[in-house]
Amino acid sequence: AHLWRGVITEYAERLPMLDGAPVVTLGEGGTPLIEAEKLSKRVGARVFVKYEGLNPTGSFKDRGMTTAMSMAAKNGAKAVICASTGNTSASAAAYATKAGMTCAVLVPDGKIAMGKLSQAIAHGAQLLQVDGNFDDCLTVARKLAENYPVELVNSVNPARIEGQKTASFEIVDALGDAPDIHVLPVGNAGNITGYWRGYREYAAPFTTADGRELPAVSTKTPKMWGFQAEGASPIVAGHPFDEPETIATAIRIGNPASWKQAEEARDDSGGLIDSVSDDDILDAHRYLSSEEGIFVEPASAASIAGLLKKHAAGQVPAGATIVCTVTGHGLKDPQWALRNADGDDIQPERVDVDAYSVARALGLDS
Ligand code: F0G
Repeated sequence: AHLWRGVITEYAERLPMLDGAPVVTLGEGGTPLIEAEKLSKRVGARVFVKYEGLNPTGSFKDRGMTTAMSMAAKNGAKAVICASTGNTSASAAAYATKAGMTCAVLVPDGKIAMGKLSQAIAHGAQLLQVDGNFDDCLTVARKLAENYPVELVNSVNPARIEGQKTASFEIVDALGDAPDIHVLPVGNAGNITGYWRGYREYAAPFTTADGRELPAVSTKTPKMWGFQAEGASPIVAGHPFDEPETIATAIRIGNPASWKQAEEARDDSGGLIDSVSDDDILDAHRYLSSEEGIFVEPASAASIAGLLKKHAAGQVPAGATIVCTVTGHGLKDPQWALRNADGDDIQPERVDVDAYSVARALGLDS
């Protein structure tokens, strides 16, 4: 029997920064890599979905939060702060509770999915809705961390990226080598930075904190394909967006903190960063739920929407091994499932309480 112990313990020798830190964990990581047969057939490649919605708080943020909170504990911090479009705040609130710290979160006014908001409140975070967007919240959070005794746990904290790189390790460990292409949504651009670091580290010898050299695990690194939402696509446009807009509120970001690192991941891997429309995102969201059995929040579907866009343009290499990260669980922001492609509300059909009526409604008795 093997109990998954969370990413810090599972990948301890590859996380030298965490050496000697107390481990604050909720058992994050170890998420499924699901072979997506229908999607594979549709794009003519072998496609896997890394389902990060199955982390303890329902998003990939937990991988970086276990490391950030453990470093905060090592530094003797009593309080943490973050800016968030929702998932970071949910994760920070849960891990701060586990660590016995207080947590303050700054979120953009009125654009947070209900599931995420309720998580932060359930875990007792001090939640402030700021009259501004995510980028404004992050500016304020950074200033607070500079001037007050609170530790910033956004992805500008180096421990966050360090933890998030473990997703790449899990993928290579599962497939036996790196995929040809890795596709993921891009918001503040911490995750693409983390994945690229993980893939690079696994493709070369690695020196541990106690000076041992580990051999390379993979023979190659994948091309990194990142996708932003069209209305919040500063990296694609080459300039910040003052008023980013998208239904994918998780990635409604106009000036990503890790902009430069995202461009490096793109260029060094021979990859690309492109955008997808909100309609493409919602189509991909429906496709994943109805064809593959995987329920995600809209921002997560940007990776699948991106893959489908590239397929339509004839740019998906035949037979390639492709991993798409879906970053957050569908239950975070479930309202989108309750509308059809035309935007109409979907209502459950009402039936009388007898077997015949139910059988008729189900088309079993015709
Ligand atoms: N997908 C989801 C579900 C997210 O919550 C985020 C970011 C991203 C993708 C983009 O990842 O920022 O590393 O490029 N959410 C942050 C938050 C901004 O505050 O929860 P990224």
